[in-house]
Amino acid sequence: MSATLIDGKAVAARIREQIATDVARMEAEHGVRPGLAAVLVGDNPASQSYVRMKRKACDQVGIASFGHNLPADATQEEVERLVGELNADPQVHGILVQLPLPKHLDEERILSMISLHKDVDGFHPVNIGRLAMKGRDPLFIPCTPHGAMVLLEEAGATFEGANAVVLGRSNIVGLPAALLLIHRNATVTVCHSRTKDLPAVCREADILIAAVGRPEMVKADWVKPGAYVIDVGSNQVDDPASEKGYRWVGDVAFDEVKEVAGALTPSPGGVGPMTIAMLLKNTLRGAELVLSGQV
Ligand code: GUN
Repeated sequence: MSATLIDGKAVAARIREQIATDVARMEAEHGVRPGLAAVLVGDNPASQSYVRMKRKACDQVGIASFGHNLPADATQEEVERLVGELNADPQVHGILVQLPLPKHLDEERILSMISLHKDVDGFHPVNIGRLAMKGRDPLFIPCTPHGAMVLLEEAGATFEGANAVVLGRSNIVGLPAALLLIHRNATVTVCHSRTKDLPAVCREADILIAAVGRPEMVKADWVKPGAYVIDVGSNQVDDPASEKGYRWVGDVAFDEVKEVAGALTPSPGGVGPMTIAMLLKNTLRGAELVLSGQV
């Protein structure tokens, strides 16, 4: 069997097209251009690259982007002052503080300071708390797990009563992904480094979301035939045969798993583009919240 490929690039491109249309209409009808502020502390090359991609995507759909780069030794007070200024800036409808932050900074305090209605990453404890509770709606849903859910929907997955397994329990992906699956009435198992017999647990999954950051960890015999597999991983591995000396792989051993799964995202080209599309969507929503007088 060969899995259907879930083309995140194509789905993201479609969403971005719609966002560009909506942004243009907002500007024409209300004279308001949605704006995203991206805060980067330090010089982590991966974070720099992610922020660059996010800002470029903003440009492409007509969203204004404001870059704020602070040095690696920026103090807690400096970062908090900047977030305070961005909270007060009417041109800014979304604030993204790229993670991870340097170790000396108090991430929880900084994320808690972001105005709820500008929390386009959905990392504010109140937004996460609302996501965790029945009958409460967060203003924003974290972008990567939200993108993963959209891809599952696009691929035709049934959530109701499905066995869903999430590999990884990070605040950014694993935990919110599990919460989103619970909202859709899946039966959810969250696996981590102490989980016993990981392959056996994964083999029970109708829906498997891999978000552990371990190159090609999920093998073909971990996957139930016909399962929907979402690979959130993005890992750089040595590859002397390639020009750069490395290549990118996911958490799923793509070549072998595609022979077993029913549907599978590639990595790169799966969830990554969706993270950015969801961020743009959330920024547009941030501007809509202001225009509709909801904040
Ligand atoms: N670091 C890794 N993923 C993300 C993300 O989605 N948002 C932010 N702010 N930082 C990240």
